Amino acid sequence: MLAVVVGSALLILWIIASIRRNNKCGLKDIPNAHFSVPYSRLWLLSIRWRKLENRSRIHLHRRLGPVVRIGPRDVSVNCIDDGIRTIYSSKFDKDASFYHALFDQTGFMVTMIGNDEHRRRRRMLAHPYSNSYILNSQTLDSILSRVSRRLREGMAGWASTGTSVDVYQQAKCCMLDVASGYLFGSENATDTLQDPGFENDLTTLTKTTTKYLHLRTSLIWPMTYFSSLIGGNVLPDPVARGRWEAWLTRVITDSYRRHPTKPPSTASLFDHFYDSFKAADPDMPLNDMASFIAVECDDHLSASHIGLGILLSYTMYELSRDPDWQRALRKELLTLAKPSDKSLAHRLADLPVLDAVVTETMRTRAPCPGPFPRVVPDSGCRLVGKFDVPGGTVVSSSAWALHFNPVPFPSPEEWRPGRWLEVDGNTLAEMRKWIWTFGSGARACIGTHFSMRVMKELLVTIYTDYETFLDEGFTGNVEQEDTFSSSPLAGCVKLKFRRLT
Ligand code: HEM
Repeated sequence: MLAVVVGSALLILWIIASIRRNNKCGLKDIPNAHFSVPYSRLWLLSIRWRKLENRSRIHLHRRLGPVVRIGPRDVSVNCIDDGIRTIYSSKFDKDASFYHALFDQTGFMVTMIGNDEHRRRRRMLAHPYSNSYILNSQTLDSILSRVSRRLREGMAGWASTGTSVDVYQQAKCCMLDVASGYLFGSENATDTLQDPGFENDLTTLTKTTTKYLHLRTSLIWPMTYFSSLIGGNVLPDPVARGRWEAWLTRVITDSYRRHPTKPPSTASLFDHFYDSFKAADPDMPLNDMASFIAVECDDHLSASHIGLGILLSYTMYELSRDPDWQRALRKELLTLAKPSDKSLAHRLADLPVLDAVVTETMRTRAPCPGPFPRVVPDSGCRLVGKFDVPGGTVVSSSAWALHFNPVPFPSPEEWRPGRWLEVDGNTLAEMRKWIWTFGSGARACIGTHFSMRVMKELLVTIYTDYETFLDEGFTGNVEQEDTFSSSPLAGCVKLKFRRLT
């Protein structure tokens, strides 16, 4: 009886304190996502736990406007000016508790919290990912032509036998083979299109990690500790993990051995990274440097493998559902047969249908929907010209909520590449501002130009000579999982191929 009285008294005290705290808090004028959010994070953590966070944000912003309170000190933002332009500037640090829960290892660029450390690392890595470098890289030319050749061999077989192909897996293989070749040189590239065993290892490792992402990012200490015991941080499949680490060690050692004699025309990213680290700190012990480079490369490989695998396979899926757009794309690709002084990489910029198809898939199937939380600096900030948000508030945005906003994108759920071709220049520029697949600001993705070139060249390889269509026998759920990295729920996307020439 005494326990009940004490418990009730404590509860009443907690409610009074929460109400008083909320009345004093600078967030009280912002619309609430749920009646409980001024007092507790439970609602936010429960939608994250149940894998509903990004889809919920789409509907919340449609109902409540561009700024919505989702926790006692958490705000969701869904507009460009006075919104993501402000909160994704270099003044706002990443939210350490979220990003450190997200990854098994830290110390690489995505997980860096403070902006000074991040700026130094980004300067070391960014050059070979710049647009001009990507367009003119002979290393990337040669690895892309090798992967395209392998892909053509595969398609010839699938088309002649009428095989139902898991294009998600094939897309992941393409991306792993391209990224490993760009990072470590053709001599160290994987060849998973030919021998997919190694890709399976990586998919197994990624699946185990992403399976617990929603738990790790929704539980708060000390529960994160218990979640690690039930699987959050347990090393997945030690055999696959061992093979992956052994491969990474071998290619880094080999790249280091070849580095002194490599001509610039065949330089890999490893060569650039090594020179940058050496220039920044000539006395850095070799082992430290090797492990810094290894964790960065590990991250770039997995972003390419999963992120681009998702994007390429969904582009193929959407084209298979819409034969008219597939025909329009092919008509455009056949113009590439005309002689030109420009390389294929440079000619990609002259293909508006290809660009519209890719951009529309980036909009409707963003592989990393969010939420990318940032912490408001002590000076506070003002959002949409009317909400003064105090320092320490966690602000975040979701790519899906921005992309499914019906104002810039009428009928947002429809995959309609034509929306990018039918509008005037000003409207187009406005629509482009809302595309947030690769984030924005100081911490935007460094892989954007690499991703665009690789995606588009592989689509040229596929749709110049082949048609893809739905496999009627495939009934898997192709919707995306609502988590930080959003693969198809079925784990696969099956299509068939037909040769056209
Ligand atoms: C479709 C594929 C990809 C998507 C959707 C994607 C998306 C993103 C997003 C949204 C961010 C911002 C994250 C944040 O604010 O916390 C980011 C950052 C980053 N991405 Fe990507 N990415 C993709 C491919 C790649 C590739 C291929 C690479 C490798 C080269 C890469 C390397 C990075 C790095 C290093 C960062 C951190 C940048 C920084 O902190 O300055 N990404 N990516």
